[in-house]
This record gives sequence, C-alpha cells and structure tokens, in this order.
Amino acid sequence: MVSITGDMSPLHPDRNLALELVRATEAASIRAVPFIGRGDKNAADGAAVNAMRAFLSTVNFDGTIVIGEGEKDDAPMLFNGEKVGNGKGPRCDVAVDPIDGTSLTAAGRQNALSVIAVSDAGTMLDASTVFYMDKLVTGPAGVGVVDIRLPIGENIRRLAKALGKPVDEIVVSVLNRPRHEKLIEDIREAGAGTRLMSDGDVAGGINAARHNARTDMCAGIGGSPEGIVTACAIKALGGHIQGRLWARDDDEKQKGVDSGLKMDGYVYEADELVTGKNTIFVATGVTDGQLVAGVSREGGYVYTESVVLRAASGTLRRISSEHLVSKWL
Ligand code: FBP
Repeated sequence: MVSITGDMSPLHPDRNLALELVRATEAASIRAVPFIGRGDKNAADGAAVNAMRAFLSTVNFDGTIVIGEGEKDDAPMLFNGEKVGNGKGPRCDVAVDPIDGTSLTAAGRQNALSVIAVSDAGTMLDASTVFYMDKLVTGPAGVGVVDIRLPIGENIRRLAKALGKPVDEIVVSVLNRPRHEKLIEDIREAGAGTRLMSDGDVAGGINAARHNARTDMCAGIGGSPEGIVTACAIKALGGHIQGRLWARDDDEKQKGVDSGLKMDGYVYEADELVTGKNTIFVATGVTDGQLVAGVSREGGYVYTESVVLRAASGTLRRISSEHLVSKWL
C-alpha cells in the first residue's frame, strides 16, 4: 500500500532525491552528445563522468559509490568508495553508469543511457571483483514462475502461459555475443523470438520488465554492475530478476570468493542483489532507444528524456526537460 502522505523518513532516499538525481544523468547525457558517432568511447565516457560528478556534488545526500567505474587510481572515473553528494541528506549506496553503452555512443547507435541507482546505505551487493553476471529478467508475470536454474525453453513456456499468449509471441532480448550462441539457439528452438542487443543490457532488462514494451524477457551474461543497477529498477517495476556471477577464469573466481561473493552457480535473488526495498533508479537517454529518447537540439534548446523509478511507490515517471543551450556553453 502506498502512503500518499509520504511515510519515508528523510533519512532514506526519497522522492525529492530521485528528482535531484535526474539533473546528474541529464548533464551526463548532454555532455556526451559531442562524442556521439565520433568513434572515441573513452572521450564520451569521460565527458559524462565529469558532468555527473559535478552535478552529484550538489545533491542533498550522503552517498558512497558502491558500483562505480573502477578503483581510485583510475580517476577521473567515479570510483568505488568515492563519496558523492553534499553529505547532508540520507546515507545511500550509489551505483553509477555515466554511459551504459559507451560503444553505442561512439558508434552513433541507439540505446545508450546515463544511469544512477541509489538505495539505503549498505544494501547493494558489491560484486565488483567479478566482471560478469548471468541474469534473467521479466515483468511481474514472471515472479514465482520463471527460474534461472531452469532451461530457457521451460522459462519461455512458463512465461507465455502466465502472460496468456502463445510461445511464438514471446520475445527474449540477449546481448549479441559468441558466448550466447547456444542460448540464442535454444530460445529459437523453443519457438520464441530474439531481440539481439549489441550493447546495453540495463535498458534491455528494464524493457523486458515493463508491461507495454516489445520484449518479455532479458536473458544471458552481461556486466555484474549492470545487474545490480537493473535490480534497483526491477524492484520498482515489481518484476523478476535473478543473477549468478560468471567468472572468466579460476583467478577471477578466487577473487570473488575472497571478497565474500557466492560463486559456483549460486543464484542471487532480487532481494540479495539489493537488500533494500527503497531503491531509486534514474536514467536519461544519450541516444534514442525504446526506453527513452536521446538528447536532441532545436534552436536554442536541448531536449532530454528521463525515467525515474522508485520502489517505495512502485512508479515509473517520465521527465521531459528543455534546457537553454546558452546555459550549457
Ligand atoms: P559499457 O558501455 O559501460 O561498457 O557497458 C556496455 C555493456 O553492453 C553493458 O550493458 C553490458 O552489461 C556489458 O557491456 C556486457 O559486457 P561485454 O561487452 O564485455 O559483453
């Protein structure tokens, strides 16, 4: 039940924080624009990082980056352990992906996003020692129905039944990678269709969990940080997400074990990926995508589109902003 009078203490990330964070993803997206289609993904990422850091420093919260872009020595990245915000508001875990889809941006392709996710302090799984995570994401219909331990064909049949539609109308999005050859074959063999993504499985996961989107499920191996960020959004959508860490070699597996992560196919449920129920996810389009439009410019204005998802209220809000170009010169 959602309290319309507001039952969140200011010690927790609240709706005002959600709106403040959008300023940072908007800024990151706008600053990435000169680099769209210019073939330099590091330059695009650097511009987005600098803008995000500058705007985050003005936000009323006491944030610690749990999921950032690397370690301290990698500055100017937003590094793991970095404090963000003005230190005055709620204590929060913060996950940033200044651009999810740096290669998409550099190539001028669709679906690049700037993303921030926030939850109560100490609630996000720090999976930074293991680069990849196998994920299964659906909308609410898949809760208690699909399970990442089952063969993909079985999950597709179960989800189709729960959604009340034939299997051949199910569409599964998967990152287009050699490691997914068998997965893609199995999806098609089960009678479902695939939507192959060249990058950007955060947007892929969210689209699969939305009730009016063109995909029904997102499956396969992508970044672990992206898995945690996606979980923050899926909690607001009431959808299903499970993840299991996927080490590339024994060395990485050992690093995972040493940092306290559960390996060997352990399945992290949504409430283990982010233990808090009070998550916020904000994203602004860099380039056009199914979830949000990319940055555009006309005359003296720059236009951005963002989404704000809050688990406490179970809402997805769209924010369309017009920015005076003169303020960004
Ligand atoms: P970046 O833009 O941050 O590099 O991430 C893009 C991305 O496609 C993620 O969405 C995805 O989780 C990950 O990379 C997959 O990794 P890889 O490209 O190594 O398969």
